[in-house]
Amino acid sequence: KNMSIIGVPMDLGQSRRGVDMGPSAIRYAGVVETLENLNYDIKDLGDVPVSRPDSKYEKQEDNLRNLQQVADANQKLAEMVDKEITGNHFPLVLGGDHSIAIGSLAGIAKHYENLGVIWYDAHGDLNSGDTSPSGNIHGMPLAVSLGIGNEKLTNILGYQPKIKPENIVIIGARSLDPGEKDLIKESGINVYSMHEVDRLGMPAVMSQAIDYLKNRTDGVHLSLDLDGLDPEEAPGVGTPVIGGLSYRESHLAMEMLAESNILTSAEFVEVNPILDHKNKTATVAVGLIGSLFGEKLK
Ligand code: ARG
Ligand code: MN
Ligand code: MN
Ligand code: MN
Repeated sequence: KNMSIIGVPMDLGQSRRGVDMGPSAIRYAGVVETLENLNYDIKDLGDVPVSRPDSKYEKQEDNLRNLQQVADANQKLAEMVDKEITGNHFPLVLGGDHSIAIGSLAGIAKHYENLGVIWYDAHGDLNSGDTSPSGNIHGMPLAVSLGIGNEKLTNILGYQPKIKPENIVIIGARSLDPGEKDLIKESGINVYSMHEVDRLGMPAVMSQAIDYLKNRTDGVHLSLDLDGLDPEEAPGVGTPVIGGLSYRESHLAMEMLAESNILTSAEFVEVNPILDHKNKTATVAVGLIGSLFGEKLK
């Protein structure tokens, strides 16, 4: 089982410093050792270079902060991910803020007719420059992957859209901006908000999501934003929202995904060790990565 780890020390997609240290924090918490113990053959490719902002988190075109720097890093990430998949290595991308999903999905989606995406997140990340309250690109990667937004982002690797709305399943949503709600209504994106998680329970949510994606997709990418978890359990994130998914629900979700065998790529994002307690959030991320790749008690 070959796996390639790619770090993206990106913090330009939002406004709080520190999430650029996420890849180090996750490595420090033992991601490579955990996966090697599960018999993966790991190639750690190190980090994608990310340039510094010219002036402090400036809005460039279309209400987009650090657009050029975010586009450039995502271009490089997309090329690396593309190459690893071509070489039959499972890509595991470590963020960095969630804007890096733009590059991951650009590199991944060209290998599939119908890529499915599980977006495990408190947020929808479905804004564009027109609807964003913040101008932060980490609130936009799912919209960008649908072909909505500035061309410098939507057209990475020269094709768009990367994914189809009906192949997206969002899990854990509890903070959506007005424009995001409209887009969900008109596009047919599947959303299991905290309301559905509480009503149905995580076992039913995950089995429905897995059955749905299994039947209609030829590959599935997991994009896990640590802020999908409750900030009590994952405090080291830049945009915490109370009332989130528990550590236990999240482990179960990863275990069910492992059993289903549908996953073809994954990324873990938004770990900010500066806002954390003793690297707790990266440690949670590594625990979830263990479950996702087959760790179990019996
Ligand atoms: N919806 C808000 C925005 O557009 C927050 C986005 C948070 N996204 C994230 N990847 N943590 O600014
Ligand atoms: Mn190899
Ligand atoms: Mn989020
Ligand atoms: Mn996110």
